Amino acid sequence: MTVEGSVRRYRIGVIPGDGTGPEVIREGLKVLEAVRALEGFSVELTTFDLGGERYLRTGEVLPEEDLERLRGMDAIYLGAVGHPEVRPGILERDLLLRIRFELDQYVNLRPVIRYPGVRTLVPSHSEDDVNFVVVRENSEGLYSGAGGFHRRGTPYEVAVQESINTRHGVERIVRYAFELARGPERRGKLTLVHKTNVLTYAGDLYQRVVDELAPEYPDVRTDYVHVDAACIYFLEQPSRFDVIVTDNMFGDIITDLGAIIQGGMGIAAGGNINPQGVSMFEPIGGTAPDHVGKGTINPLAAIGALQMLLRSLGESGAAARVDAGIRFACTKMHSMRAGEMGYSTSEVGDLVVEGATA
Ligand code: IPM
Ligand code: MN
Repeated sequence: MTVEGSVRRYRIGVIPGDGTGPEVIREGLKVLEAVRALEGFSVELTTFDLGGERYLRTGEVLPEEDLERLRGMDAIYLGAVGHPEVRPGILERDLLLRIRFELDQYVNLRPVIRYPGVRTLVPSHSEDDVNFVVVRENSEGLYSGAGGFHRRGTPYEVAVQESINTRHGVERIVRYAFELARGPERRGKLTLVHKTNVLTYAGDLYQRVVDELAPEYPDVRTDYVHVDAACIYFLEQPSRFDVIVTDNMFGDIITDLGAIIQGGMGIAAGGNINPQGVSMFEPIGGTAPDHVGKGTINPLAAIGALQMLLRSLGESGAAARVDAGIRFACTKMHSMRAGEMGYSTSEVGDLVVEGATA
């Protein structure tokens, strides 16, 4: 942040990306403009041409120069990356994961909150049941890329994909989760989700770190649930969760299930956070190729990501407005599913603005 006169000013890097990314980011920026004006801060947006289109055009995924410019932002707002004509893995690894790793965004924060009025696949859930946050480790584990092939393409092929878990990496994510759990917005409960009965090394490290840090947080109750059982609890008893801490791969998987109990990918937002550095916020759904250019995609996940971005910048008034706007839109929309919202993408953005500026 810089301050000019008395006006707070933020540099925000915008990566609309591929597929429906630009459509949902457009709505997010519309909401940003509305709340920014009311809350009295200014933003300098820098749009980055990154994603499948650029790769197909130039062969570049994330040039050093763009990475350096991203490092200079106060926050990054990402739509989606992925392109039907680009081999899977390239954009994911060399763009999305590379930004997460290079900027050391070691926390992937994914709130699982069901807003009033939202219908989900689990009709028995009440509004109060689904209100927790997944703290997904975002810098190591199975995502480290460690491993390799032996005798690739032969009948004796061996593929090794290793999960790297460092004391430093585990400790910083667990500490982040403890701090979150004791904060005013949570209920003081931290659940480690892992698979300690089988992953006896990595799981053991996580459990030991939780146990070692717990005395520093006497106000936080700790609990442990195996990842497979956690999937059942997401459906049968989500109220048992407040803050979950888990590794990168488990966190990836359970947050898709988390999205379903929130109302679907159309509403699920997340942040890739470096508490000391530059964080990046994104809707967790993908590029939704079937919906591109139709005005049918749900922008609420991207708008939820904006809300998280504003909060991370310390603009809590603006974040509260965006939250109110999302809640207002949820009470009007028929469904969170693309094409079934009862409104177009841009009309949903307008509803949020209406609720946010009321
Ligand atoms: C996510 C996505 C990414 C991940 C992919 C696109 C690499 O699924 O953000 O959850 O696995 O982290
Ligand atoms: Mn995922």
